[in-house]
Amino acid sequence: MASRDQKQAGGGFFSSIAYSLSNIGTAMHKSVNGLLGYEGLEVINPEGGAEDAEEEAQRGRWKQEDRDSYWKMMQKYIGSDVTSMVTLPVIIFEPMTMIQKMAELMEYSHLLDLADECEDPYMQLVYATSWAISVYYAYQRTWKPFNPILGETYEMVNHGGITFISEQVSHHPPMSAAHAENEHFIYDITSKLRTKFLGNSVDAYPVGRTRVTLKRAGVVLELVPPPTKVNNLIFGRMWVDSSGEMIMTNVTTGDKAVLYFQPCGWFGAGRYEVDGYVYNAAEEPKILMTGKWNESMSYQPCDMEGEPLSGTESKEVWRVAALPENDKFQYTHFAHKINSFDTAPRKLLASDSRLRPDRLALEKGDLSKAGAEKSSLEERQRAEKRNREANDHQFTPRWFGLSGEVTTTPWGELEVYEYNGKYNEHRSAIDASEIVPEVSTESIEFNPWQYGNLTTE
Ligand SMILES: *[C@@H]1O[C@H](CO)[C@@H](O)[C@H](O)[C@H]1NC(C)=O
Ligand SMILES: *[C@@H]1O[C@H](CO)[C@@H](O)[C@H](O)[C@H]1NC(C)=O
Ligand SMILES: *[C@@H]1O[C@H](CO)[C@@H](O)[C@H](O)[C@H]1NC(C)=O
Repeated sequence: MASRDQKQAGGGFFSSIAYSLSNIGTAMHKSVNGLLGYEGLEVINPEGGAEDAEEEAQRGRWKQEDRDSYWKMMQKYIGSDVTSMVTLPVIIFEPMTMIQKMAELMEYSHLLDLADECEDPYMQLVYATSWAISVYYAYQRTWKPFNPILGETYEMVNHGGITFISEQVSHHPPMSAAHAENEHFIYDITSKLRTKFLGNSVDAYPVGRTRVTLKRAGVVLELVPPPTKVNNLIFGRMWVDSSGEMIMTNVTTGDKAVLYFQPCGWFGAGRYEVDGYVYNAAEEPKILMTGKWNESMSYQPCDMEGEPLSGTESKEVWRVAALPENDKFQYTHFAHKINSFDTAPRKLLASDSRLRPDRLALEKGDLSKAGAEKSSLEERQRAEKRNREANDHQFTPRWFGLSGEVTTTPWGELEVYEYNGKYNEHRSAIDASEIVPEVSTESIEFNPWQYGNLTTE
């Protein structure tokens, strides 16, 4: 059920973001200073408690001696942004890149189709926010995706009638842009994930601009998602929690949905709980939404006090799909589909993440090859950068361009990239072309590079 906190949050939508952020990690989860002689080490069990920190610290994926050396090695990064750290060992990676992971938000895209098809403006927000919540199940994986190479792309077809393209548009700071479209909606995002390394945990702030346009209804929705925290990086079992507000606003009318992701352990809140309301522009609650982000979401019409209307019942709007058992990387079926060539279009771009040799080697379980390929790609990326600077060149993304607009998010400012439309032309040209037998997609050499083969110079 919607909590009292939620109702108070109804007045000042943004105030409680700051409130929840400043409280996590201090009041609830008091740090266990002195544990094993490690200053500032904070261990929180996956139920949100710190009372068994010493026992929890012994658990997790690392051996005791590794934990000790990682802890010492990582000390110097405390307080810093680790998004683009290139030195992380490949053992913590999953065989997927960040721009592929962006496509995971499309798994339940049928919810956006439903939003576009329905007439009721509040139900449109129920569907659209349920879609935005649906990806959090997949995002609780405790493996790190590869940082995309500048100019790397990811294309996806054969799912919900969507054409999806994402591109790494900036290397420093790392920024990605994506565009997806089907007959019902257009999805655009510019993303500049920011992190803060805290020792045994890392906070991830989704600095970004996400817009969904429902085509039939002509509605533009804007999404501000909650931040995420990865707990127990080195000591204890690693787990991911998202907490704070998710806000989806109808840019035209000002109607909005505000959902509150409860921090695990907060006044006894169980893990995964999320609840909130769809409000009209006058900030009166219209529909109550409740659920767990790892499982399902439901909605029910409510009165001005936010209480469910009598004579109505709570109806389920989304439920997580069946999951593979004992998956090595905690993948969903859709995550496997994203990595496969089933979702690759004809004449896949050579800059596609699927073709990365380090990613492919990791997928096949060859860690040493994956590590070597990763270093070699990073070396080549540095060589390109040197070449660019020496020639006074700029990097220009192929499918997106700077719009000139700078937007403000709760975690910082963001230069917005916009889709330049060229990918539609590119695809139509290919679709109109004759089908000639092509070399097998898998044998294409990964090539996101701006210049020719620098390694031979
Ligand atoms: C948003 O505003 C538009 C334009 O006034 C309206 O037609 C639509 O129903 C609203 N949709 C939502 C999801 O609030
Ligand atoms: C979601 O979390 C609950 C614990 O709160 C757990 O019992 C349930 O199995 C989880 N659902 C899935 C699909 O993992
Ligand atoms: C680039 O050069 C390396 C080293 O000579 C070679 O192995 C590789 O096949 C070349 N790649 C291309 C695309 O020419």
